[in-house]
Amino acid sequence: MGRRASLTIAVCLATMALLDGLTQAQSRQALSPGRAMYLGVDYYPEHWPRERWETDAKLMKEAGFNIVRLAEFAWIEMESREGQYEFGWLDDALKVLAQYNIDVILGTPTAVMPAWVAQKYPQALRTKADGTQVVWGGRKHNCYSNADYRRLSERITRAMAEHFAKTPNVIGWQIDNEFGGEECHCPSCLAEFQAWLRDKYGTLDTLNKAWGNRFWGLKFTDWPQITIPDDSTDRSWVMGNPSACLDWKRFITWQQARFQADQVKIIRAVCPEDFVTHNLMGLFTGLDYYAMAKDLDFVAWDNYPIWSDKPDIPYSASLAADLMRGLKQKNFMIMEQTAGPCGWEAFGRNPWPGEIRKIAYQQLAHGSDGQIWFRWRTCTVGREQYWHGLLGHDGKPLRRYQEAAQTAKEFRRLEEHLRGTTVVSEVAILYDYDNLWSLSFQPGFAGNSLQGAVRRYYDALFRAGVNADIVNRKADPSKYKLVLAPDLSILPDETAAKLDAYVKNGGVLLADCRTGVKDERNLCHDRTLPGLLSSVLGIRIEEYSSLGQDSWYKVNGGDRLAGTYTAIQYTDWVTPESAASLAGYADQWHLKPFAATTRNIYGRGKGWYVGAVIKEAAFYDDLIAQLLKDAGIRPIVTPPPGVEVSIREKPDKRLLFLINHNEEPRSVRVPKDRVELLTGQKTKESFELDRFGVAVIEL
Ligand code: GLA
Ligand code: ZN
Repeated sequence: MGRRASLTIAVCLATMALLDGLTQAQSRQALSPGRAMYLGVDYYPEHWPRERWETDAKLMKEAGFNIVRLAEFAWIEMESREGQYEFGWLDDALKVLAQYNIDVILGTPTAVMPAWVAQKYPQALRTKADGTQVVWGGRKHNCYSNADYRRLSERITRAMAEHFAKTPNVIGWQIDNEFGGEECHCPSCLAEFQAWLRDKYGTLDTLNKAWGNRFWGLKFTDWPQITIPDDSTDRSWVMGNPSACLDWKRFITWQQARFQADQVKIIRAVCPEDFVTHNLMGLFTGLDYYAMAKDLDFVAWDNYPIWSDKPDIPYSASLAADLMRGLKQKNFMIMEQTAGPCGWEAFGRNPWPGEIRKIAYQQLAHGSDGQIWFRWRTCTVGREQYWHGLLGHDGKPLRRYQEAAQTAKEFRRLEEHLRGTTVVSEVAILYDYDNLWSLSFQPGFAGNSLQGAVRRYYDALFRAGVNADIVNRKADPSKYKLVLAPDLSILPDETAAKLDAYVKNGGVLLADCRTGVKDERNLCHDRTLPGLLSSVLGIRIEEYSSLGQDSWYKVNGGDRLAGTYTAIQYTDWVTPESAASLAGYADQWHLKPFAATTRNIYGRGKGWYVGAVIKEAAFYDDLIAQLLKDAGIRPIVTPPPGVEVSIREKPDKRLLFLINHNEEPRSVRVPKDRVELLTGQKTKESFELDRFGVAVIEL
């Protein structure tokens, strides 16, 4: 039932929101306040005959679904000629859905321009780096600075918002679809880049210094001389200046965030009660997601973890979820959830029985407050014919539908327990796009990437059964007991000062290879490494070395890290000053004076440093165990391999999620005499999880 159906309902919902401790203005900011959790599908009524719509809605209702996302590619269906709007078909579809109490998130359709736009405004088509334009015929064709495209996009957004403002079952909006960091090299984008730089730096002199343009004589003497840097790494002879490349990436985010904001403004003005979100892409690296998320009421994202025969569901989809939750430090929803085999040309493996449910639980466990499966029915036409939905081409409600329906019904049963809960972590991993991009232009040592470095620690935390928040480098670390700062190569002075204060006041910090090399301009600091973190970490690094693919060094751990490990890829030549060495190089005479891992007591806290990439996961398991000990963190459950642990909580409730990613049953030691909410049974000392099984235990 829709929010605007009648005054009575509006008042009633407002009361519920207030009961939830939310004002009405805040209620839009939260997911499902006083409403049912959103569960449903991405639906394309325009792909199917009208006679089928009612069957679809009925099957959705029977599955326990209450939401669909619609229309994000349907611009041509709504404006087949410039300025002539036709919403009748969508009104009809919305009515059918309303009869079955299904609410709707509308997508603004600007991810695919109609053919008439490309024909009449050819400059709206994006220009590639080689100077040629994108050929119309797929999607995401557009340039983000083209005035006509911006105007037409705002107009269709306004027309939709005005038309659907009074439709009771429209409750929220998705702006565009998967902003993808597309880079346009047209004259208008170049001019905007120049203007953006002018705004940022004020004078050419400042810009030249910030980019280090004395090098190779790349100094600009006039703003129009500025070119788009070549950030590709495959043609070394034209590789652009890394400082320019970093600003270009930031500019691309600014441009796409502006495009998003143009539409957000309209929807907020015309439909002030509706929520606004966007479907982000988890670990995607082309845009600064912290900036993109700012304008949204909450983050939504698209989750497709099954591709290969051995899909990396456990770590990568949970990391993505934690990253998405960290963007606004609040719960999120899944706008597209895996429903079947995926692929545009060849498709990957089918989710096996139990996997659709398990993947959905994983997101729930990490803070998802709504899930929409992509897509309802597998399309018989177009590029996504093999991207499978819950229903096959034949439209029958078979295994995948049944499993999603079962999952939705279970989620409903858990709903009251879940309301208002989120993941509360004692551990944070710092993340930021400046570092990510800077390392993508210049990894320093081969194979280095921010996400790769994050995974070394994240995976070990996962294995230890400990939740982590992935948070912006700029966030306040003080609420965490343990902060991991992998690959913190760009270390601005204020970040260093914040981390210094954090450790001084009792925090435990871990930093690693290449910490403190650069500043925010992507210029190298002129300080001995690890720069402003030297006192915190109690070490000095004057030299370092890459290791070729065929080289590795033996590392011997002492008491706290007992064992023999292997350094690969890179070594810092770490000289401990006030720090204690916890591991050293055993068989390399030239590295004998140096440490591979150190621990320093600084103020009331501890600063740890790992100066090598270590091959063995066991090393990171031991390291994390030590760090948790230092930080006074005790996992509630120590899971067997392949079993995921996550906790959602609020002040008077704690829910322990256990997810078995193994194809065989597993038994897990759990706190006893608690209720497992799916079975209603009291726990004994150990809990048996089926293959791909799930448990939700109220602690
Ligand atoms: C993305 C998009 C969808 C669809 C799916 C499947 O996540 O947002 O429109 O294309 O992938 O390809
Ligand atoms: Zn352009």
